[in-house]
Amino acid sequence: MLPPCRGLLWLALVLGSVCSSLESAAPDPLNVLLIIVDDLRPSLGCYGDQLIRSPNIDQLASHSLLFQNAFAQQAVCAPSRVSFLTGRRPDTTRLYDFNSYWRVHAGNFSTIPQYFKENGYVTMSVGKVFHPGISSNHSDDSPYSWSIPPYHPSSEKYENTKTCRGPDGELHANLLCPVDVADVPEGTLPDKQSTEEAIRLLEKMKTSTSPFFLAVGYHKPHIPFRYPKEFQKLYPLENITLAPDPQVPAGLPPVAYNPWMDIRQREDVQALNLSMPYGPIPVDFQRKIRQSYFASVSYLDTQVGRLLSALDDLQLANSTIIAFTSDHGRQALDLVELLSLFPTLAGLAGLHVPPRCPSPSFHVELCREGQNLLKYFRFGKGTHDSEEDPYFHANPRELIAYSQYPRPADSPQWNSDKPSLKDIKVMGYSIRTIDYRYTVWVSFNPDEFLANFSDVHAGELYLVDSDPLQDHNMYNDTQGGDLPLSLMP
Ligand SMILES: *[C@@H]1O[C@H](CO)[C@@H](O)[C@H](O)[C@H]1NC(C)=O
Ligand SMILES: *[C@@H]1O[C@H](CO)[C@@H](O)[C@H](O)[C@H]1NC(C)=O
Ligand SMILES: *[C@@H]1O[C@H](CO)[C@@H](O)[C@H](O)[C@H]1NC(C)=O
Ligand SMILES: *[C@@H]1O[C@H](CO)[C@@H](O)[C@H](O)[C@H]1NC(C)=O
Ligand SMILES: *[C@@H]1O[C@H](CO)[C@@H](O)[C@H](O)[C@H]1NC(C)=O
Repeated sequence: MLPPCRGLLWLALVLGSVCSSLESAAPDPLNVLLIIVDDLRPSLGCYGDQLIRSPNIDQLASHSLLFQNAFAQQAVCAPSRVSFLTGRRPDTTRLYDFNSYWRVHAGNFSTIPQYFKENGYVTMSVGKVFHPGISSNHSDDSPYSWSIPPYHPSSEKYENTKTCRGPDGELHANLLCPVDVADVPEGTLPDKQSTEEAIRLLEKMKTSTSPFFLAVGYHKPHIPFRYPKEFQKLYPLENITLAPDPQVPAGLPPVAYNPWMDIRQREDVQALNLSMPYGPIPVDFQRKIRQSYFASVSYLDTQVGRLLSALDDLQLANSTIIAFTSDHGRQALDLVELLSLFPTLAGLAGLHVPPRCPSPSFHVELCREGQNLLKYFRFGKGTHDSEEDPYFHANPRELIAYSQYPRPADSPQWNSDKPSLKDIKVMGYSIRTIDYRYTVWVSFNPDEFLANFSDVHAGELYLVDSDPLQDHNMYNDTQGGDLPLSLMP
């Protein structure tokens, strides 16, 4: 029903999509290109979507290992990115909002790029990789993570300003923002600039004697949907379907609902006088939101295409590991967590895979909470983790992905989607197995970072096979307690 961005969090779970690719292993160290897309869900051709035009991402996926069920550990930009870039869960980074830097607040944890840098790589950041601000010490975790100063596109500052031409001919700060690129300030858009900078860095790296680790973070399709207007033509409104389940599910506990405050702030949405917290959004506007989301994805796809073509043209494609992921947005047997990116990239590049974390691990700078997924890749010589990973011998029914989401109250309110640490009263802990999604909302003490699993505020249980869209909450039917709380991390 809701716009395909953060609004989806009303089920408190998120999934991330990881398409990942590896060409033949070379004797020289492999480079790494990590592409991170903001708020992308698997509305992509490679995930079977019939409407979306994403030929470049699909092409990458066609010769990659494509994960069908990859889950983010917390579906908010800063906590999700800090989690997968350090390889630690939000309960270990202690970042559930945007307002602290893990090195001083939780532990001096190593990051993926820091680890590659310490292993002889030139590490570079372009665009939104770490979330900007305090959560990366206003420096994208420089100097620890990066060899050179991180790049941010100059036109980024216009993203939320009045640059969208409305039907009244005036400029507005809208949710829906198809633009004529020649007319916007600086005559360009952030993701175009990021692609150009990334290509420039690849050209420089062509002659480098050191391997590189280049992270490129794209802003779209995160709201606002500010994209070149020609992409709208790919999606005529009359061809846009509505979500298959537009109603708020009857059995959804109020604590699980996300009132999409970020969307309500936009001028075009404010003009709709939507009721708080449940809406609804008028059907015509729902169609327009979906149209602009799809157009933003196709625009993003052309940027990914330009970047990958440059890698080919520079003859770097056969010596570069490409990992493609989103920080959240909905993303079979291969049930994985974004947390596993750290050990898996290290393993693929032939570096020593960091050891498993003890519990607790606040004092340990380098360890992993995620799994090394190397064995999913069908090749092997010399790059295996010496440690036998029990994960791969496990019964698929025992695989579990964990996610969590904080709330300030049991009912939706103004800060439900992004509560500050001090306001967190309830934490939703969620497990996804191949059979079900099970969530308990329990009381949480933000001073002690303690969840109280004996104080359950609400629960959710959805069966994957019979209820894939998670519309029929069976928690009360099963008294909830039948499933083991002890599975929580
Ligand atoms: C990659 O391909 C280029 C050109 O096709 C070739 O010169 C180079 O040796 C290849 N590198 C590896 C590591 O296979
Ligand atoms: C944190 O880790 C960085 C990188 O290894 C190191 O330079 C720094 O000294 C450490 N800081 C503390 C307080 O241990
Ligand atoms: C964060 O940045 C400030 C200002 O640049 C710096 O003084 C401080 O040492 C940084 N914190 C850490 C843990 O490196
Ligand atoms: C829109 O739908 C019509 C009817 O199914 C189809 O012929 C047309 O190709 C579609 N247009 C686009 C741009 O997909
Ligand atoms: C929203 O409310 C304003 C002020 O009450 C009114 O002028 C406007 O027509 C309303 N818009 C819609 C779409 O109902």
